[in-house]
Amino acid sequence: MVDPLSWLDDALADLDNRELRRTLLARESPQRGDRIEIGGHSLANFGSNDYLGLAGDERLRLAVTQAVQKRGWGSGASPLVTGRGSLHAELERELARFEGTQAALLFSTGFAANVGAITSLVSPEDAIFSDAKNHASIIDGCRLSGAQIHVYKHCEVDKLRQSLAVSRQRRKLIVSDTLFSMDGDLAPLPQIADLAREFSAMLLVDEAHATGVFGEKGRGICEHLGVEDGVHIRVGTLSKGLGSFGGFVAGSRALIDWLANRARPYVFSTAMPEAVAAAGLAALRIVQEEPYRRQELLARARELREHLTSAGLSIGRSDSQIIPVILGSPGKTVQVAGELRRAGYFVPGIRPPSVPEGESLLRISLSSLHQREQVEGLEAAIRRIVGG
Ligand SMILES: Cc1ncc(COP(=O)(O)O)c(C=O)c1O
Repeated sequence: MVDPLSWLDDALADLDNRELRRTLLARESPQRGDRIEIGGHSLANFGSNDYLGLAGDERLRLAVTQAVQKRGWGSGASPLVTGRGSLHAELERELARFEGTQAALLFSTGFAANVGAITSLVSPEDAIFSDAKNHASIIDGCRLSGAQIHVYKHCEVDKLRQSLAVSRQRRKLIVSDTLFSMDGDLAPLPQIADLAREFSAMLLVDEAHATGVFGEKGRGICEHLGVEDGVHIRVGTLSKGLGSFGGFVAGSRALIDWLANRARPYVFSTAMPEAVAAAGLAALRIVQEEPYRRQELLARARELREHLTSAGLSIGRSDSQIIPVILGSPGKTVQVAGELRRAGYFVPGIRPPSVPEGESLLRISLSSLHQREQVEGLEAAIRRIVGG
C-alpha cells in the first residue's frame, strides 16, 4: 500500500534543493531582546520582536502570576459564551483609551485579528486593495473574504489610485501594514488616507511592529504621521513591542460590535487566558510611562542604518528598528547568517516565501535592551563577512 503522505519526502527534498528548507530552533534562555542562548552558545540577539525589552520584564511576570492566583489559568470558553473575563474587558477599555478610539476587541493573536476583521468587513460583492508586501495574515484574510483583490505595487499610491478609480464593487477596503515587517519601511499613510477619503473606502492598517515604538505616545505610525483620524480600523498586537501576547482591533463602537458578532476567529475560538490580558495591561502602562525606551531604540536604529548605508550595504527603504541587509540569494543569506552566528551574533536569514524571490535578507531587529557595543560589534561583523 502506498503511503498517502509519501509526497512529503519529495516536497521537503525540493525545499532542500532550493535552499528554502527551515529547521526549528529552540532557544535555551528566556526571550530577551538582547541575548539568546541557542545550541549551547550565548549570542547577541538580533532576532526578536522584543523591541522595548518587555518580554522578560519583571512587572509583566508579576502581573501574570498574580492574575493566575486570582483568576486561574484557562478561560474555558469562547468570549461570547463565558470565556471573556473582567481582565479582558479592562484591557479592551485600556486599549481603546490608549488608541483614542471608542472601543477595542481582543483576539487570540494579531494573525486572528487581521483575518477576523477583514473577513467581517468585505465579501464577494466587494473589493480589497492590498499592498504587495502586506503580512501573510492580511493576505489570508483577503483570500478568505472572497472579495475581489487588487494587489498594488509596494507603497505605490499611483497604482492604488488607478485600481480604486476603476473598481465598481459595492464596498472598498484598503489594507496596509504601517511598518513592513521584513523591509522595515513605512507605508505612505497620508496619501493612502487621502485616497480612502476620495473614494469613500474603508481603511484598515496593521500596526503590529509599530505599537509602543512609534509616535510620541507610542500609538504607532498613524500617530507618528498624524493620520489617526483618517484610519477606520486599527489592528495591533501585544506580542511584539509590548512583550506580551494577543491581537486587537480598535475603532468605532459600531465596528467593534460588528466584529464581536461576525469575526469568526473571535466567535469560534477560546478566549485567551485572563493572565495573558494581565500582561498586556502591565505592558500598556509601561509603554505610556517609559517613552525613553522607544526614543533610545529609534535613535540607535537611525545610527545603525546610517552606518550600514555608508558601508555600501543595501538596507532598502528601512526607516525603523527593523533593518534588512538585502543579500538576494537564499544560499548566500544562509551562509552569512551562519558566519554571523559563529561570530556570536544571532541574525535571522529571511528567505522566500517570507520575502519575494531574489530578495532574501538578514533581518536585524533592534531592542532597547541592546548595548552600544553589541550593535557596533554586529556592524563590524557584517562588514567583515559581507564586505563594505
Ligand atoms: C505585520 C504583522 N501583522 C500581524 C502579525 C501577527 O501578529 P501575532 O504574532 O500577534 O499573531 C505579524 C506577526 O508576525 C506581523 O508581522
